[in-house]
Amino acid sequence: MKKTYIGTSWKMNKTLDQSLLFCEQFKKHLITDLQQQIQPFIIPPFTTVREVTNTIKNNQINCLIGVQNMHFEDTGAFTGEISPIMVKDTGAYLVEIGHSERREFFGETDLTVHKKVRAALKHGLKPLVCIGDSAQEKAWNISAETVIKQMKAAIFGLHQEQIQQVIIAYEPIWAIGENGIPATAEEAETIHKKLREALTDLYGKEIADNIHLLYGGSVNSSNCAELINQPNIDGLFIGRSAWQADSFCNILSIINRSI
Ligand code: PGA
Repeated sequence: MKKTYIGTSWKMNKTLDQSLLFCEQFKKHLITDLQQQIQPFIIPPFTTVREVTNTIKNNQINCLIGVQNMHFEDTGAFTGEISPIMVKDTGAYLVEIGHSERREFFGETDLTVHKKVRAALKHGLKPLVCIGDSAQEKAWNISAETVIKQMKAAIFGLHQEQIQQVIIAYEPIWAIGENGIPATAEEAETIHKKLREALTDLYGKEIADNIHLLYGGSVNSSNCAELINQPNIDGLFIGRSAWQADSFCNILSIINRSI
């Protein structure tokens, strides 16, 4: 059965103590009857990813762990960067690539995103590729073109098996963060449908239907059920509403009841 990925990136938040406290609370609050198809994931900062991975594993909690970025080269003179080999070394499995904050503040481009997707797949890591339109692009009515272009650049040349390893997250920039306005379920579904059509053109319906399209941007306990029940929304990528373990678990149980 197709997984429903529900997860959170902590961005630049949480020390080691705070990360471990989250894990403890997560274990306490996570419902025991979570449907098998629901796959929670957590993306901590690099500094705590190994401890979080080990803690989740040792407590036999069903939760994937990821990193928020990665360089595309295996090794080399790239001061401050983390390679795919090092990511594997932490035990993490997911690699978030191309979040709009990285595109805006750290010079991430469609080309670097593409290289990172390739590198992740080469090393058996699972890429979670973020794409998103700005408020300006939305006003110009070019949201779909914008995100389809980003997606196509990210996945260019991937063969059928590879593309099915990739998770795509549509995260409108205008919806992210404190000042973000969450996309309505209808707005999100409209874009997801167009992304699915673009994937169908590239890979055919069967494969396109297997690819996970997540929505992110001000997801919370009030809008998660409606969003997840859209036909082309296969999961949710949550920021601040899931940074507290009990809130994350609450969202997971709402979704558990509503799908
Ligand atoms: P938010 O963040 O849920 O806090 O808006 C979403 C994201 O950046 O992935």
